[in-house]
Amino acid sequence: MSQRKNTVLSPEIVEAQKKVIDRIRIQNEEQIANGGIRKKAFVETYGCQQNVSDSEIIFGMLSQMGYDKASEKEEADIIIYNTCAVRENAELKVFGNLGALKHLKAKRPELIIGVCGCMMQQKSNAEQIRKKYKHVDLVFGTHSLYYFPSLLAEVIDKNSRVIDVRETDGAIAEDYPVVRAEGPCAWVSVMYGCNNFCSYCIVPYVRGRERSRSMEAIIKEVTSLAAEGYKEITLLGQNVNSYGKDLSDGPDFADLLNEVCKVDGIERVRFMTSHPKDISDKLIDTMASNPKICKQLHLPVQAGNNRVLQTMNRRYTKEDYLEKIEKIKAKMPDITLTSDIIVGFPGETKEEFEDTLDVLRKVRYDTIFSFIYSKRPGTPAATMDDCLTPEEKKECFSRLLEVQDKISLEKNQALSGKEMLVLTEGYSKTDSSVLSGRTEGGKIVNFRGSEELIGKFVKVKITEVRTWSLLGEIVD
Ligand code: 5AD
Ligand code: SF4
Repeated sequence: MSQRKNTVLSPEIVEAQKKVIDRIRIQNEEQIANGGIRKKAFVETYGCQQNVSDSEIIFGMLSQMGYDKASEKEEADIIIYNTCAVRENAELKVFGNLGALKHLKAKRPELIIGVCGCMMQQKSNAEQIRKKYKHVDLVFGTHSLYYFPSLLAEVIDKNSRVIDVRETDGAIAEDYPVVRAEGPCAWVSVMYGCNNFCSYCIVPYVRGRERSRSMEAIIKEVTSLAAEGYKEITLLGQNVNSYGKDLSDGPDFADLLNEVCKVDGIERVRFMTSHPKDISDKLIDTMASNPKICKQLHLPVQAGNNRVLQTMNRRYTKEDYLEKIEKIKAKMPDITLTSDIIVGFPGETKEEFEDTLDVLRKVRYDTIFSFIYSKRPGTPAATMDDCLTPEEKKECFSRLLEVQDKISLEKNQALSGKEMLVLTEGYSKTDSSVLSGRTEGGKIVNFRGSEELIGKFVKVKITEVRTWSLLGEIVD
């Protein structure tokens, strides 16, 4: 299949890391043989699905080292915070939560505390941890993920602090262990990084340039997930529509989707995130024609005003965007559409914000993920002047939610009484006596049923609708 232009972590490095994993496992086993109890690790994830996926690798490595999952920080021998840098709030939360670990470390000096992820890829944050959070033993950035075993070994062996923030883009590593969340759905990264440099966004600085995994490696992973019983795959990347551009005999994202769908046992395929400027007719046609590809699309518009979109460096206009949406709806009338929206981008006026509301009313998204603009030092937007006051931004934000909540509810109401095929994922997060699953469009449906339905498809009749979820009963 495809020949690679981009870098793959050399097998020697992967081998060396595996040896370290084995060595720590042997140490842990000896410790248990000598009457000790099995050590536990707690990994907390902030931010997006890419981080969730990275945490599954971190826990996969820890699990191979012989650590069990700790259900709370208090019982953990290792605590790792996998951080997010997209908005300031998430950063402040990490600093707050790290501060709160100080007393645990004082009580149990042998506790190992590590911080990784996007926040740590920024030198200033890593420096702040080094200087002010002396109870943190290990700091590593996004490009150091695959070196985690040897970094941890250094902390354990030398009983010293280790800080590893590398400049270079991390090469792609294959065949690392992964421990996934329970249930029939798995996330599979298909590419890393982003080349778009939207002016507000820190991601290209902390995740590096776009790097695609080879199609062989992805198909191999999906095939083994199918053999383990997984039924649904979500292909993951900051900008999946660019998949393959860095592979020399380039399969594109539509080709990849078709190949993933060919894997026996995989019944549903989803993907995120797509950039509106890159979504091709070929992709739309592939989605429409392949029954395994879920009719669900997350297509972040960010803002509705053309001047704002241009300053954001999004490289499409409101009209381009709406035209693509029309094309998508024409081919897939029942598609679930979702979006990310930023309110209060520097210079955005109240009048310009009206264009965002206009997009919401025209597209009629099922759900949006909305954020008040957060200044990210180092990005072009950080030096741009603000126009609205914080109060005005909050007002706009409330109006946005008001408009969208009404649309979300109306769209769900249209499903009332319908029979829908739901893949049961597990118990509801809010009521453990109720099962929860998703429709093809990704809508959450809660219904009563027995445990053996977990992992299976069931037909559910929608009996009650809410803004963010549906209630139903099984139809025989
Ligand atoms: N401020 C607010 N929201 C942001 N996002 C990215 N950067 C910022 C920022 N500086 C939002 C975008 C993106 C989502 C993942 O996070 O809407 O699509
Ligand atoms: Fe950030 Fe834009 Fe890349 Fe998305 S496409 S990660 S918003 S720079």
